[in-house]
Amino acid sequence: MPSNRIESKTSDTSSFNLKTPGVRIAPSLLAADFSRLEEEVARVEQAGAEVLHLDVMDGHFVPNISFGIPVIASLRKRSKMFFDAHLMIADPMQYAGPFVKAGCDHITFHCEVTENAGAVVDHIHSLGVSAGISLNPTTEISKVKSVLDTVDLVLVMSVWPGFGGQKFIADVLPKVEALSARLGAHQRLEIDGGVDPSIVGSVARAGAEWLVAGSAVFGQADPVEAMEKLRRMALESLGK
Ligand code: DX5
Ligand code: ZN
Repeated sequence: MPSNRIESKTSDTSSFNLKTPGVRIAPSLLAADFSRLEEEVARVEQAGAEVLHLDVMDGHFVPNISFGIPVIASLRKRSKMFFDAHLMIADPMQYAGPFVKAGCDHITFHCEVTENAGAVVDHIHSLGVSAGISLNPTTEISKVKSVLDTVDLVLVMSVWPGFGGQKFIADVLPKVEALSARLGAHQRLEIDGGVDPSIVGSVARAGAEWLVAGSAVFGQADPVEAMEKLRRMALESLGK
């Protein structure tokens, strides 16, 4: 049994099940208007978004600083979406607990920050949430091999982490295909960075299911319409 499970989460996200396969657009808060966060989040939630992607940057692992624990804890009181935390930070072991306590439903960390990914996955699971591992654009699958059976999600970076609004790196598509073939039905494959209408069909066909979109959603005049268009295009590319 997990020993240090955190019970203080305030939200009820019980209707959401990470183990359910399917295409989901995950809006990235990084591209939202930070002066109107509550409104921005409510808009995509009311439009049916189930997953909110939270890009946390520490200025060490990536050369940028975004937002952290207090912002997430505040949003937790206003949203029932599944909070998908993407920790672009050097020390996930130290901070996974506080992020779960702030209300994150899931923690993804980067394989590049540790030589013992299994210990980080175990720690995240012991906190009572699902665990994901992320690979930078040139990081090979062999680097995450040891945890491919235990993680709940694999996140493939299709830009170099640190900034929104970058161009999709198409070289990652074979890696997406290989991971899609390797992962079990209960595991999710997420892609993050530069996903827009021009590429969303290709990433869905390659097998990515959770499609993170920052600029292509919150950066648009009508984020709801933009999100629905991405979802429609992804499904159409799969013949659905
Ligand atoms: C990059 C982040 C991504 C990114 C997505 O470090 O992990 O989530 O902000 O934003 P777009 O969709 O604008 O590339
Ligand atoms: Zn991200």
